[in-house]
Amino acid sequence: MSDMPIRILDARATAALLPFGALIDTLRRSFAEGCVVPVRHHHTIANEGTPDATLLLMPAWHDAQRANRYLGVKIVAVFPGNTARGIAGLTSTYILYDGQTGTQLALLDGNAITARRTVAASALASDYLARKDAKRLLVVGAGRVASLIPDAYRAIRQIEHVDIWDIDAEAATRLANSLAQQGLKTSVVSDIESSARAADIVSAATLATEPIIRGEWLRPGTHVDLIGGFTPAMREADDDAVRRSSVYIDTHEALHEAGDLVQPIKSGIFSETMVRATLEELCRRNVTARTSEEEITLYKAVGTALADLAAATMVYEVALVNG
Ligand SMILES: NC(=O)c1ccc[n+]([C@@H]2O[C@H](COP(=O)([O-])OP(=O)(O)OC[C@H]3O[C@@H](n4cnc5c(N)ncnc54)[C@H](O)[C@@H]3O)[C@@H](O)[C@H]2O)c1
Repeated sequence: MSDMPIRILDARATAALLPFGALIDTLRRSFAEGCVVPVRHHHTIANEGTPDATLLLMPAWHDAQRANRYLGVKIVAVFPGNTARGIAGLTSTYILYDGQTGTQLALLDGNAITARRTVAASALASDYLARKDAKRLLVVGAGRVASLIPDAYRAIRQIEHVDIWDIDAEAATRLANSLAQQGLKTSVVSDIESSARAADIVSAATLATEPIIRGEWLRPGTHVDLIGGFTPAMREADDDAVRRSSVYIDTHEALHEAGDLVQPIKSGIFSETMVRATLEELCRRNVTARTSEEEITLYKAVGTALADLAAATMVYEVALVNG
């Protein structure tokens, strides 16, 4: 019996097979359906003369009831010392297997999967949480993930204007120029307060450790989407933002990993019982969760291997059909 060839899709090919409209629909079904997601594994790797590296393993698989089932693992190598070497500090690869036989099927670019599934999951949450008439978006950050936010949000709302703020004003200008070339009305903002006060949706994907977004700036009806912080020390929004909002999360890990919730829990202004719903629960109910036009909603995500598996499966199945 001959071995089945493994398909290899680089970053460009992987991204091309994940258009946001279809990816958001796939995630909606996948979160509603659920899959097996064990706790991610962290391994610290000593690297003489440079900061320790981390190997992160994120497995997930469909359960036995699913007809076409898959098993996948994302392998992320984080080498912080690479900044000094002038090369990327994070490399990520996704391996997809047949869930019934364990046969290897595809090797995909993990960075493309991560960035696109992350903003697609946030846009999906916003589809349940943001006002239907939301049209003004403030993007906080201009990195790999933040630069995809406008495209993903345009798949769920009629976005008419995008404001971009970044700690690095040149990065914000580069992103604004590239979005303007796609025909989007954009502005680079230096006064984030005025922009947040005018926004319908504020979406942040930064490495910030101090709050950038202040709750007192948010007008009634705003939706806040926090993608960036992934450790208890990181923060994108302040306590007031959490206090004034109805809070939603992607998974329960957000309550233990994300400073935007861990710190308000520690200081007693927020508790686990105040979480309105997870993304899985929103997708299962499949109804608008916002209760009024004035409610401020806040969604905090830390990412899940469920979304990686859903995106990788989508890429593989479309690649098969396309030959
Ligand atoms: N929730 C998820 O599922 C998920 C998935 C992927 C990435 N992320 C997180 O999103 C964030 C952005 O990831 P990325 O790949 O786009 O990184 P990136 O390095 O490409 O971009 C980082 C952005 O943060 C800005 N920034 C850096 N330091 C800052 C500070 N102190 N204050 C404010 N802004 C600062 C940078 O200027 C840049 O715009 C990271 O924290 C990453 O871990 C989350």
